[in-house]
Amino acid sequence: MKLSVPGRVTPAAIITAVTLLTTGAISGAAPAPTIAAPTAAAAAPDIPVANVKGHLAQLQSIATANGGNRAHGRTGYKASVDYVKAKLDAAGFTTVLQQFTSSGRTGYNLIADWPGGDTGHVVMAGSHLDSVTAGPGINDNGSGSAAVLETALAVSRAQYQPTRHLRFAWWGAEELGMVGSKYYVNSLSSANRAKISDYLNFDMIGSPNPGYFVYDDDPTIEKTFKDYFAGLGIATEPETEGDGRSDHSPFKNVGIPVGGLFSGADYIKTAAQAAKWGGTSGQAFDRCYHASCDTSSNINDTALNRNADALAYAVWGLSS
Ligand code: TRP
Ligand code: ZN
Repeated sequence: MKLSVPGRVTPAAIITAVTLLTTGAISGAAPAPTIAAPTAAAAAPDIPVANVKGHLAQLQSIATANGGNRAHGRTGYKASVDYVKAKLDAAGFTTVLQQFTSSGRTGYNLIADWPGGDTGHVVMAGSHLDSVTAGPGINDNGSGSAAVLETALAVSRAQYQPTRHLRFAWWGAEELGMVGSKYYVNSLSSANRAKISDYLNFDMIGSPNPGYFVYDDDPTIEKTFKDYFAGLGIATEPETEGDGRSDHSPFKNVGIPVGGLFSGADYIKTAAQAAKWGGTSGQAFDRCYHASCDTSSNINDTALNRNADALAYAVWGLSS
């Protein structure tokens, strides 16, 4: 959904202006005002939240058909990977399924590269695709997975040709201790690690009683996200729960600049936070965290929409 950003000219506004000029609807409109040529750096598109929710509905169906979860080593995880991979393959990505073993079961990371750009400077965005065994994992972490997927599909729709190379990732077995993302980082040569300019992580971005947390890490990445929310007039707080809580951690540990977004898990929203963000103070950001009720109804659409748009804004901005 389009949220108005101050100072941004929407395509619709440009079309309206051009229509008025070409139809002569503006009286005495000579000399015609100059319409600025498109700038070299393409603006990030709006990410349709309906599409993101469509992916969440599919992940919910996959869980329902596979014993109620999408956990590592279970059929619902592999079905989730197959769903995401098919979308990316059809959109022109080069995909790789990376296999590993954890707790005696096969796990998978899905890596998708967008052809083009400087492969010596890679901007990467990722999210964990596995749930816990207790439930379908729609906020944790269908939300991040669906938003990263829809951003990748938006790259394809725009046929975006950024200066830097783009790579998207869906991690397996995060819930067992970031097993998939650790495996990926360990599998990279030091030369290939050095080529990753940024790793952006999205783990829980549609919490039903949301907060707007920006990882307090690489300053450039953090500023990019904060600028986006400032443009919407939304206050953010630094994400300070610690660096060991999600898949950005293995990247950070080898010196790769990291950042990300988070809308809250089992911590309680304070009165001050409810005053600036709305929602319910004295309640968890996500009362269904790691529970069977983390279903399609456990999503705040406004938070999902804003965070998906911020994700695309950062991917475009950092890679242009
Ligand atoms: N990674 C956690 C999970 O998947 C979620 C989480 C809790 C989190 N606190 C966090 C993610 C802080 C990022 C930052 O269960
Ligand atoms: Zn989790």
